[in-house]
Parts: sequence; C-alpha cells; structure tokens
Amino acid sequence: MNVLLIGSGGREHALAWSLSASPIVSKLYCAPGNPGIEAVAECVAIAASDLDGLVAFATEKKIAFAVIGPEAPLVAGLADRMEAAGIKAFGPSAKAAMLEGSKGFVKDLCAEHNIPTAGYRRFRDSARAKFYADTLGLPVVIKADGLAAGKGVIIAETKEDAHKAIDFMFDGAFGAAGAQIVVEEFLEGEEASFFALTDGEHVLPLIGAQDHKRAFDGDQGPNTGGMGAYSPAPVLTGEVIDKTISRIIKPTVAAMAERGTPYRGVLYAGLMIKDGEPKLIEYNCRFGDPECQVLVMRLRSDLAPALLAARDGVLDAIDLRWRDEAALTVVMAAQGYPGEYEKGSEIRGLDDAAKQDGVQIFHAGTIRRGGKILSAGGRVLNVTATGASIAEAQRRAYAAVDLIDWPQGFCRRDIGWRAIAHR
Ligand code: AMP
Ligand code: GLY
Repeated sequence: MNVLLIGSGGREHALAWSLSASPIVSKLYCAPGNPGIEAVAECVAIAASDLDGLVAFATEKKIAFAVIGPEAPLVAGLADRMEAAGIKAFGPSAKAAMLEGSKGFVKDLCAEHNIPTAGYRRFRDSARAKFYADTLGLPVVIKADGLAAGKGVIIAETKEDAHKAIDFMFDGAFGAAGAQIVVEEFLEGEEASFFALTDGEHVLPLIGAQDHKRAFDGDQGPNTGGMGAYSPAPVLTGEVIDKTISRIIKPTVAAMAERGTPYRGVLYAGLMIKDGEPKLIEYNCRFGDPECQVLVMRLRSDLAPALLAARDGVLDAIDLRWRDEAALTVVMAAQGYPGEYEKGSEIRGLDDAAKQDGVQIFHAGTIRRGGKILSAGGRVLNVTATGASIAEAQRRAYAAVDLIDWPQGFCRRDIGWRAIAHR
C-alpha cells in the first residue's frame, strides 16, 4: 500500500525508518519530512499544517493509509479530513484528540471515571483561580487548557509565583489556549511515559520510556520538549504497567467510546509514580518525541499492520514482539535551545557516527544545502543506540555523539542516569 507519513521531526524519522521496512508498505511518502527521512521515504514539501494540501496530495497519489505524527494536525482534524476523503488515517479524530487538546477535558473525564490523577479545578477567571491555588499548598501547578507547544505548564513554588502564573495565562501569554486554566495539586514521584495502541475498543499495550525534560545535566535548567529518552524504564515494573492499563488506559478508552468519540491511535500516558502507584499527569494523542525513537529500536515486529489494525478496529488480532535490549537516545540541540538559537550551522561526521555498533541517528531539525547537512531547528539530532543494558546503550550513543562535529550544538551527558542509578 502507499503510505503518507505526516511530520518532520525525529519522531517521524523513527516512524519512517520503521514503516519503510514493512513488506506491506510499497511506497512511503513523508510530508514535509527532513534530510534523514529522505533516505527511507520520498519527501514532499507540504507542511503538516496544510490540511487541504495534504488531503489533495493523498488523493492524487492514491494513498491507502495516512500516518499522522504530530498533535497539531490531529487536533485540527486531519484524521477526519483524510477519512472523509476515503483515506484511512492513523491518529484520533479531532474530537478524540481532545485528550491532548484540552487539559480540563481530561481532568473531568478522570474525575467522572475515578482515574487516578492530581486534584484540580478549572477556571475562567483569576480571582477564583488564585483563591483555589492558595488552598492547595506548594508547589502548585497552573496549566493553560489548550495546546501551548509543551510550554503551558507552570509549577509555582510560592503563592506569589502562582498568582503571577495565573495572571500571565489570563493575560493571553498562551493565546486562546490560556482562556481557561486548570489549577492542580503537585504530584511527587518519578515520571515515566507509557504507550498503548487502541482501536476505540481494544487496547494493545506497547512499552514504556522515560524522558529528560530539563535542558541541562542533573535535570537542571529550563523545560524542553525532551533532551533524551530510554526504554525500558525501571520504575515501570510489571505491576505498575498492569495498574496503568487497568486503572488509567482502559477506563479512558471505554469512556471515550461511551461518549460517542472513540479514541483510535496511540495513547501516550504521562505518569507520576510513587510507591508503585501510577497517577495520570496528562495524555498526548501521538507518539512521544524523543520516546518514539527508542520504542521503534526495541520493536521486533512490523509496525505497519499494528497501526493499520488500530484504524480498522482489529487490534485484538495483533501481537507485537519486543527486543529485550535497551535503547537510549541523546538529543543534540542548537546552543541556546529552548531559548533563542541560531540555525544554519554545518554538522559533520554523521556518516561515521551512524556506523557505530547498534547506532541509529534520527534527524529532528536539519536541512540539506548542497552536499551539507545544516541545523534547522532547536532539537536537531537524536543519536540513538541499543545495548544489552541502558548503560551499554548509553555508552554507544555517546560514542556516536563524540564523532559528530557540530560546535554550535550541545547535548546532555547524563541521559539515562536515573535508570542506571536504579540498579
Ligand atoms: P505536561 O505538559 O502536562 O506534561 O506538564 C509538563 C511537565 O510538568 C510534566 O512532564 C511534569 O514534569 C510536570 N507536571 C505537570 N503536572 C504536574 C503535577 N500535577 N505534579 C507534578 N508535576 C507536574
Ligand atoms: N517528550 C515529550 C513529548 O513528546 O511530549
């Protein structure tokens, strides 16, 4: 079948790498893709936000299956648009993507179905929000309701900071996304992500991963989209995974079906785990980035039929096999990220780095100019490796990082420290 993958980041490079190996994928296109993806798919210059352009291209090229990587086009209704044009789509409808698109919606759903999560209330005005925040103790968490490119969460350490955060959001710092806010209790514990495919009825658990959100070593510095990830995550024991599936994921899938907005696609549960008890922090309606990069490295089975089964409602027929090996990815970012950074610096040494044992380099924010690869974003490369243990995967990934000649970039040197310390 002809497949169109939508997106241009490291997550999409990982998906393209995996899908391109499938015997059921005869032709793989990626819109807009990136220079890394070019090695495994035909990239077409249509932005992920150009819904009309994507549907027209898919129709023209007789695409059988559109796999949508990022959240923004899902929340904007790209899966609905593809389906309306007779093209099967992987990813939830706009109504089901509310699980990522509205934090308040998820919190209400959790409250109605006894899904463990932080105590909360939703607000449209600042006086009431401040009053409630003051009752919660410190720190306290203030969230813009809508999509804010991963920046809409403020953890306030003092009452004053909480009040400032509330004003900041209602003053339009996140545009319409902040017209409603959620004020919630701060959860202690260790964070991890768990992924599951669902076809609206059946749930096929995938595996878990841990991400490093802070920019600098020792989990210091500003929050980012993720500076590295690894799988398995030691905190996700079999028991924690069982609880996550039975208490969080399955009730959510059932509730969405009951509401008449069944959720199909990948459900990404952001969890806080304390004393073996998982609580839901948030949902995302897509694969994690960079978590997806380690997931595909550990997947032994063909990804394409599993994604298609999630669309077709037959996930109960799929059985995925995973490697026992660990996988770890190091994000190389432009200096300055997540603040201001420059684009257009040359990256050398990628070929040598990619030849290292067990290493796969996914491009996240690059362009090709002449014969050169230049940086074109904040998070630029995902240097990924497998190994018998997290420690071995870490050694291999950093050995590859050290062969990459890019003075304008930086990375954390401690990705995986928590997993290695667990042992
Ligand atoms: P989110 O965008 O909801 O993932 O939030 C970003 C990050 O803020 C999460 O990955 C957590 O590290 C943190 N966070 C969000 N909500 C809470 C909470 N209720 N308690 C503790 N940390 C939180
Ligand atoms: N790595 C976090 C995310 O994909 O949201």
